[in-house]
Amino acid sequence: MAQKEDILKRIIGHAKEYGFVFPSSEIYDGLSATYDYGPYGIELKQNIRRYWWEAMVRMHDHIVGLESAIFMHPTVWKASGHVDAFNDPLIDNKDSKKRYRADVLLEEHIEKIRGKQQKEIQKAAKRFGEAFDEATYRTTNDRVIGYQEQIDDIKNKMAGYLAAGDFTALRQLIVDLEIACPISGSRNWTEVRQFNLMFSTELGSVSGEAATIYLRPETAQGSYVNFLNVQKSSRQKIPFGIAQTGKAFRNEIIARQFIFRMREFEQMELQFFVRPGTEMEWFEYWKAFRMRWHRALDLPEESYRFHDHIKLAHYANAATDIEFDFPMGFKELEGIHSRTDFDLKAHEAHSGKKLQYFDPELNESYTPYVVETAIGLDRMFLAILSAAYTEETLADGSERVVLNIPRWLAPIQIAILPLVKKDGLPEMAKSLFNTLKLDFSCQYDEKDAIGKRYRRQDAIGTPYCITIDHDSLEDGQVTLRERDGMTQQRMAIEELPAFLHDKLHLSALLSRLLD
Ligand code: GAP
Repeated sequence: MAQKEDILKRIIGHAKEYGFVFPSSEIYDGLSATYDYGPYGIELKQNIRRYWWEAMVRMHDHIVGLESAIFMHPTVWKASGHVDAFNDPLIDNKDSKKRYRADVLLEEHIEKIRGKQQKEIQKAAKRFGEAFDEATYRTTNDRVIGYQEQIDDIKNKMAGYLAAGDFTALRQLIVDLEIACPISGSRNWTEVRQFNLMFSTELGSVSGEAATIYLRPETAQGSYVNFLNVQKSSRQKIPFGIAQTGKAFRNEIIARQFIFRMREFEQMELQFFVRPGTEMEWFEYWKAFRMRWHRALDLPEESYRFHDHIKLAHYANAATDIEFDFPMGFKELEGIHSRTDFDLKAHEAHSGKKLQYFDPELNESYTPYVVETAIGLDRMFLAILSAAYTEETLADGSERVVLNIPRWLAPIQIAILPLVKKDGLPEMAKSLFNTLKLDFSCQYDEKDAIGKRYRRQDAIGTPYCITIDHDSLEDGQVTLRERDGMTQQRMAIEELPAFLHDKLHLSALLSRLLD
């Protein structure tokens, strides 16, 4: 665990040094859980967003886009349930005065037990060597089984108390498990209280209850309230979807782990409207498609897993998370929910306006059901960055840090490097740069020895470097150096555009999504 946390620290350091992510307002000592994206970070972020958008909107005939406002009528959040139920259970330690999410304290306690369980398994794996069968060991070893029972018991109790809103029992669970404050070490806890996660502000110069508006905590509601506007204006028939990307705001109490959990973040959400009764089919379709979207990027297969929800939110009849193996362990990256007609019905009830669809095939009107896919852009950024970050010792004993960013999404895709700064090489390199930059994100660099320039490009994840040397002037060929294997090949300049297009263009990535 310590080692993994160390990796996260190194990734954060690398992201800052190489212009991916900076702490916000750093010269004022920063603002907790708020980050700024630097020159390479913004390129990567835009490329991820574009991949999502093209895969969802362009690749699906029946999905259209929307950009709804961050501010919405306050009743939207009453109807959606966010005013009454978008809460975190908080608990304070009376000695350190530190505030915690009660469920996070319990989850961290579970992780500690899981760590002990894992140690038992590792010890046994060492003892038994090749003959070790982890699955059998988990179901037969008394200690491992005991740890699992403790984990399941805490999880079940916690889920039950949270669902029932029984905060006295939740606090008692923390006390019974003898969970101590990491700062003061004491078990002197306050009661558990509910804390709403929405940021509020006031509209114009009027103050008071009526003028309180919220910064949206999700983009989804903008798509629901525009359901008929979009359906009619784009002449969609059910099933069809509305895609949105945009900022969302949540006053997270435990906002940490770098850009994993922030107070201001970006979502990429699809609301897919379907005929009631067909939602499970579509839920399965979107589960499969979203996983295909992830897998197309060639990040390690074992980094992804589905986590089906057993306890469902009141509005859902099926839900799963796509979890990713972040440096902090497996955590939610994306949620896929079958939300029934809960949201549209709630908006009908609160607005008094019908949000129904007339189905010409059935010759009847109904409130559509919704299947939603919701992924955090910043979380996807962190997934890519953490899978990409690699420290290597090369054959000659030297070290390199390379970002193996999926090549289609790399902030700089091609670096163009004249071997020396004279003899007409810069002119030839700049001419190639000016041609290739029309189609790809390119960087021209003539400073320092070539090896140093390669390392710089490795550190920002540039998949290809093109070096122009004296032979290039004679034979019109260049050296193409590939990032991951550091292999080099000579290639004629006129062959470059087609080769690079096949390797780097977004269309090459999108074509992997076709059946
Ligand atoms: N409309 C559904 C919805 O908002 P969610 O699971 O609360 O569902 C969707 O959020 C995704 O947004 C999450 O899977 C996660 O990737 C991202 N997300 C949620 N809270 C976040 C936060 N505080 N910081 C960064 N990303 C967050």
